[in-house]
Amino acid sequence: MNVLLCGQFDAEEAAAWQASLRSAAPELNWLTPEQAHARPNDVDAAVVANPPPGSLQGLPRLRLIQSLWAGVDRLLQDATLPPNVPIARMVDPAMNDAMAQTALWAVLSLHRGFFLYAAQQQRGLWQPLPQRRADEVHVTVLGLGQMGGTAARRLHEQGYKVAAWASQGPARSARFEQQFGLPALPELLGRSDIVVNLLPLTAATRGLVNASFLAHLPRGSSLVNLARGAHVVDVDLLAALDSGHLHHAVLDVFNTEPLPAEHRYWRHPQVTVLPHAAAGTDERSAAAVVVANLRALVAGQPLSHLVDRSRGY
Ligand code: GLV
Repeated sequence: MNVLLCGQFDAEEAAAWQASLRSAAPELNWLTPEQAHARPNDVDAAVVANPPPGSLQGLPRLRLIQSLWAGVDRLLQDATLPPNVPIARMVDPAMNDAMAQTALWAVLSLHRGFFLYAAQQQRGLWQPLPQRRADEVHVTVLGLGQMGGTAARRLHEQGYKVAAWASQGPARSARFEQQFGLPALPELLGRSDIVVNLLPLTAATRGLVNASFLAHLPRGSSLVNLARGAHVVDVDLLAALDSGHLHHAVLDVFNTEPLPAEHRYWRHPQVTVLPHAAAGTDERSAAAVVVANLRALVAGQPLSHLVDRSRGY
């Protein structure tokens, strides 16, 4: 089977992916975009990381598009994507773990005032802050998928009062509270100290974190966005921070990435910026996930982690 590997990698990343994928599946024939371009009739599957739009058209034998990214929002925006080829997203337990660690770090730092202590250190200020217990802190996790579900469980295990929200059910078997649907959101936000966003980016969730969303949050609450920049209306978030309504925002993802040098988020005292690093795809574990799906394709077995294009994830 011939598999095209393509994406917006630098040379080092491309070499690392090729090495991991070749060693995980030496029996497969891995093609570069140039090789696939020269032999379009031979390409059976494509393994992609946000490939340039148009990369997957004109491949008549293509039977699977496997994303190396968990979020497929950019991939689905490519209007030239072949309409009937199944798309699988990356679901990797190592990535879920990494995301849960980042969520935990952000929530712990907000709860215990560690961002404030870092700011106090800059000013040489020695000033202990009141110490709340974890079970006094209400954390709402938006998203109940692979990453949202894992993060909610870990936060609950640390003693936080966790509620997870998703646009639709079904509920998972879990020890934390679960809520579904837009009508449930205002009341839930109204009792949240910290909101962690791990939703997929779809037409329904784009711009969800806008002025009215933020107004439902209690004064002094904080936002952690680990999903996509386009979930947030930046002017509304900045207004909520500037007015003091929102205490702090931890942002890993942005409407424009890399975050432009002149953007206010960089130097805002109530914002912590991460460079889209909350949970990178780990090529060692992800290669095994990719190869399992490619081998299922060869064997005619069911494929895993398929995207529902109408839902957008
Ligand atoms: C990262 O943001 C991903 O979607 O994998």
